[in-house]
Amino acid sequence: MRRPFVAGNWKMNLDRASAAALAKAIVEGVEAFPLVDVAICPPFVYLSAVGEIVAGTRVGLGAQNLYPEPKGAFTGETSPLMLKDVGCTFVILGHSERRAMGESSDFVNEKVLAALEAGLQPIVCVGETLRQRKENKTSAVIRRQVEGSLAGLSAEQLSRCVIAYEPVWAIGTGENATPEQAEEVQSEIRQLIGIRYGREAAESLRIQYGGSVTPANAESLMKMPDVDGGLIGGASLKADSFLAIIAAAKTCKAS
Ligand code: PGA
Repeated sequence: MRRPFVAGNWKMNLDRASAAALAKAIVEGVEAFPLVDVAICPPFVYLSAVGEIVAGTRVGLGAQNLYPEPKGAFTGETSPLMLKDVGCTFVILGHSERRAMGESSDFVNEKVLAALEAGLQPIVCVGETLRQRKENKTSAVIRRQVEGSLAGLSAEQLSRCVIAYEPVWAIGTGENATPEQAEEVQSEIRQLIGIRYGREAAESLRIQYGGSVTPANAESLMKMPDVDGGLIGGASLKADSFLAIIAAAKTCKAS
């Protein structure tokens, strides 16, 4: 039904040589896991080099951001068409590290629409802060982010999106959400999608969990019914830990 999907978010890490070496090791390693979809998202400057390594393999290439214009006077920005041109098929949008720098759901929505227009699959990140969780605002925050980031999408456009639930307090902290906490929010997200787009659209949407996923906790998270894979930061920077998480994603319920 839903194929598990594990993506590595390399953030602002690695250099050209280590990025190439990691990509090669992942390309070799994923052959053992034909039922799991895999993508890696290197920094912009290494997209071309990594793109050449993953071209024609089972490993997809993703960017970590884009600017929602086709071209023009936007110093320092990168257009969706440029990402396509170097072989990207995915783009992470609305990551909390970017929302923390002032990126609103409205702007994420513009980016999602621009990505879809260019034929890229957006991985749309949503997640609450620790304070919001403590104040019992998680559901409201997630609803605002999901509705805002996906505003105006047709059912067909939604079918090309992936959502990543990433509680901000779990990112890079070593403190992952428990499988039950992840499931609670991810099933809510699926319900929200169901209300707007119908049951079939909701059932086929892939929702990743992200935030301190490691080989040690991956299987318990992936076993939850609404967890369809992971968006992996720190543990995606080493081939063995990333591949171990991909192995765990075989246990995803909906697959
Ligand atoms: P982490 O990052 O796995 O290092 O917590 C996840 C993410 O930010 O996507």
